[in-house]
Amino acid sequence: MAQLQKRRREFLKFLAASPLLTLSSRLLAEETLEALEIPGYLIDKPEEALDIFDFHTVAKHRLPPAHYGYLTTGTDGNETLSANRRAFDDYYLRPMRMVDTREVSLRTSLLGQELDSPIILAPVGSQGAFHSDAELASARAARKQRHLQILSNVASNPIEDVIAARGAPVWFQLYPTNQWSTAKMMLERAEAAGAPVVVLTVDLNAGSNRVLLEQYIRIDDRDCSACHGNGTVEDFLRMNPMYEGSRVTFADFDTSGMTWDYLKRIREVTSMKIVVKGVVTREDAASAVAAGADAVYVSNHGGRAEASGWGALESLPQVVEAVNGAVPVMVDSGFRRGTDIFKALALGADAVGIGRAYIWGLAAFGQSGVEKVLEMLKAELRMVMSQVGATSIDQISAMHLGTRK
Ligand SMILES: Cc1cc2nc3c(=O)[nH]c(=O)nc-3n(C[C@H](O)[C@H](O)[C@H](O)COP(=O)(O)O)c2cc1C
Repeated sequence: MAQLQKRRREFLKFLAASPLLTLSSRLLAEETLEALEIPGYLIDKPEEALDIFDFHTVAKHRLPPAHYGYLTTGTDGNETLSANRRAFDDYYLRPMRMVDTREVSLRTSLLGQELDSPIILAPVGSQGAFHSDAELASARAARKQRHLQILSNVASNPIEDVIAARGAPVWFQLYPTNQWSTAKMMLERAEAAGAPVVVLTVDLNAGSNRVLLEQYIRIDDRDCSACHGNGTVEDFLRMNPMYEGSRVTFADFDTSGMTWDYLKRIREVTSMKIVVKGVVTREDAASAVAAGADAVYVSNHGGRAEASGWGALESLPQVVEAVNGAVPVMVDSGFRRGTDIFKALALGADAVGIGRAYIWGLAAFGQSGVEKVLEMLKAELRMVMSQVGATSIDQISAMHLGTRK
């Protein structure tokens, strides 16, 4: 913190000249929502973090504007992004006193896998945009802190290398293409690499209007062609090693014709378990179970799918109700604190994914940043559990929550 004063002066100077100030009110609303920015306040190392937002501030400082925009953006006016955070305010804790909580365990299991905690690393693509060690740094941190990691199929590192870095199988997330041979090739490759589960993302089939990303791209004056090339498919393949060997074209990414039959096709070519990610309604939860999903993953893509204005935590109860214990329910979108995670568990989620939270750690400090984020979220969750009187994950129940709705 020694350099804090100097940084503060530099930051104020930067702020005064910054084109960021001229950006739309949407951006400013997003800023206040996501990061409590005190001018000049930046931590120098992970150990100094007070909460995970300290990593956000450093990430924002370090990342090129376009990459920060990619990380931060929602859709339209960021309505869903805001709703994700707001939804946590609708629930309050109901602490039970005088419980012996000297021993608190976060251990749980998911799809037959023993987990040290219900906090998992959600699939985040293109992590090379945030740190040169990309998904390998996240995997090493997940290994050290013993978390389940889901790898995106648009990862900067191939699954074989990520599994080696994790020291255990990761789950594989698949964005469908309308070219079945590409999906089949990836499924076979992921299974051969040791992934026990495929997570099919179903919430981006018709595109999303990422205004905030475009705004940040406009203020980024770097020449991006060295990494991104000229936007050809060859450039895309170079940056996305999981597509190696495919003959995919951009038109193949139009999956607006995908229906629940897609699950059956996946089932025919793989024995991996299938998780459906992106479900937010009771209707789709029931359809996913009927189509043979092994788990349902509530997510609005961190507010990046559609501007529904509906927070993931608000969607969770109806999905839990519709699934009715048939399969596990996972959730992500907007989780930033142990208290948030606790609320989802109390509403019936079996596991909680974090996205931007660990990427802030990655962008700020690489592997050690991710490690610290994971460590902090676990410590926060443990503290909440102690406070409310729950000593294990299965003791967390609806009794521990009240609602203002
Ligand atoms: C930069 C970024 C990239 C993402 N890439 C993917 C992806 O490749 N596949 C996927 O299913 N979800 C992707 N997501 C969504 C995450 O899996 C997760 O649903 C979301 O980040 C959770 O919200 P949170 O960031 O508020 O925690 C991405 C999210 C972000 C922020």
